[in-house]
Amino acid sequence: MSSIDSVLTETRVFPPSDAFRLQANVSGLEAYHTLCEQANNDYEGFWGQLAREQLSWHKPFTQVLDERNPPFYRWFGDGELNVSYNCLDRHLPLLANKLAIIFESDNGTVTRVTYAELYRRVCQFANGLKSLGITKGDRVVIYMPMSIEAVVAMQGCARIGAIHSVVFGGFSSKSLQERIIDAKARLVVTANEGVRGGKLVPLKATVDEALAAGGCDSVERVVVYKRAVHEDGPWQIGRDIWWHDLVKGKPEHCEPTWVNAEDPLFILYTSGSTGKPKGVQHSSAGYLLGAINTMRWTFDYKPADIFWCTADVGWITGHSYVAYGPLAVGATQLIFEGVPTYPDAGRFWQMIEQHKVTTFYTAPTAIRSLIKLGGDLPAQYDLSSLRLLGTVGEPINPEAWVWYHEKVGGGRCPIVDTWWQTETGSHMITPLPGAVATKPGSCTLPLPGIQADIVDEAGFPVENGKGGFLVIKRPFPSQVRTLWNDPERFKKAYFPEEYNGKYYLAGDSAHRDEQGYFWIMGRIDDVLNVSGHRLGTMEIESALVANPLVAEAAVVGKPHEIKGESIVAFVVLKGPRPSGDEARQIIANLREWVGSEIGALAKPDEIRFGDNLPKTRSGKIMRRLLRAIAKGEEITQDVSTLENPAILQQLQESV
Ligand code: PRX
Repeated sequence: MSSIDSVLTETRVFPPSDAFRLQANVSGLEAYHTLCEQANNDYEGFWGQLAREQLSWHKPFTQVLDERNPPFYRWFGDGELNVSYNCLDRHLPLLANKLAIIFESDNGTVTRVTYAELYRRVCQFANGLKSLGITKGDRVVIYMPMSIEAVVAMQGCARIGAIHSVVFGGFSSKSLQERIIDAKARLVVTANEGVRGGKLVPLKATVDEALAAGGCDSVERVVVYKRAVHEDGPWQIGRDIWWHDLVKGKPEHCEPTWVNAEDPLFILYTSGSTGKPKGVQHSSAGYLLGAINTMRWTFDYKPADIFWCTADVGWITGHSYVAYGPLAVGATQLIFEGVPTYPDAGRFWQMIEQHKVTTFYTAPTAIRSLIKLGGDLPAQYDLSSLRLLGTVGEPINPEAWVWYHEKVGGGRCPIVDTWWQTETGSHMITPLPGAVATKPGSCTLPLPGIQADIVDEAGFPVENGKGGFLVIKRPFPSQVRTLWNDPERFKKAYFPEEYNGKYYLAGDSAHRDEQGYFWIMGRIDDVLNVSGHRLGTMEIESALVANPLVAEAAVVGKPHEIKGESIVAFVVLKGPRPSGDEARQIIANLREWVGSEIGALAKPDEIRFGDNLPKTRSGKIMRRLLRAIAKGEEITQDVSTLENPAILQQLQESV
């Protein structure tokens, strides 16, 4: 990625202002180092104290960390609590009338919900779930638009100990079906439609399609929230039930189901290096502790904040920093249904002005596209309420960072570039905004208690300045517990034997500068990062070869100005290599095909046809050559091991 090259030469440093530092929850570098030392000197004591202070327990834990069965670590393992209780009930004595959610719909309608009202809605929905026979440990798939109801559905599951699995509304019926089958969901919660950028998204129809495709016998009921006023589609009597009918007349109190600290709160599917998505399973207590700590540390949470994380609840960011973290600390948060560019590229700035947002957290890809579509627009709005900015999901190029800092943050707001993953549950490496000086493009230093390091193949730390594999050397409370249905894959994917099964291997490469700051360089596996979304190249390849025309496919990433990475597919058809209009038509069809197999986000940006793919004599596809071809680079690598060197020229010419 070109931005990575420029990142390497970045030398600007932005220390926290005195004004910010003095009011910060962690104030000054020394305070940060003190926390790190406390964690290093007494690891369990450090986490145990945080868990006692920050979480409300039904039954206190007596053991902090249980490492007897690595890498299946248990945290606070004999404690009992309820996540929804921690997000709602415990705030009611003091914060009942505080706004929990300010919801702005696609067309700008605003709905406000207090903690007392949210509590009622969650309880009614939880009672609705119970009336359908859903109990602790059952899986509920949530396929919803951004809405108050999406949060209510997640919290409602947490309240009764049901395990939710949210599937992003942009995924296709096939992806949805796969996840429903893998999770053996008893219930699907959806909306008749979603609305984004003025367009309707047919969610219920997609659920119908997924369930009709077979294999989803576990699903008994489908709860449908009525969002849009569009005509209702087909209705399966006995299976489908309107949300408003389900909650009608249900009691406004629902005793939380107390669960073990380690009982799963949710499963969230994400891409790995094989075709099959991984069901990342998170715990209840450790996960929530991570979300709370980082609300306080990274986002320097203060009760007067208006917090806005723009992520969809279909991703981990929307779990930790929409559905759980902000509520667990009693924050007022903004939730947005729509897209940043509708009705124009000033939407985010207009909303920040209108709702007096103090803390704004979004993805570099959104920043880059807003720079492109309206770099001067922030100046037209009053953004003086902002005090802290954040980014997540991919490396941010210094130019975008500086624009964000100046044009959006008015030069006064620290930027927290937060490195973490679906698997880590909460931030791992990020500046503490009142303590750590920032450098554009660096996620800076690990949070207290997070033993991040960069090591070589044998597990030895690499020197500063040298690239290596990003690992976390000790278990931490919010980490993935296992992969749903696949503990073996969990071990193999994250705790490789090269590191004696001890280090958590993040799957990213990184290096440190002379001050020990971390700079993320990219994935080491076949995972792409397209607009901050994780996609496996194998997933897209499997989708392509499932098309009857396709014999073989290889997918690689290519640097992209806005999306970070774009998807390039090299395809060998069963028939002759097409050209001209025929090729264009097949490309259009294949893009649609991948859209329906996985979701629009996975459609290749470019498809090239060849008679074959570059392979070694043992039949291995040489992806590094394909990456070079995709970038339009001259091939300087050794190609003597290639079975069919002539194919390179053909693919280069096949644009
Ligand atoms: O490659 C890293 C990149 O996103 C990956 C995790 O993707 P996902 O599980 O979908 O979670 C995204 C939201 C937490 C990482 O392995 N990544 C995430 N944050 C950053 C990042 N790369 C660079 N800088 C970041 N701040």
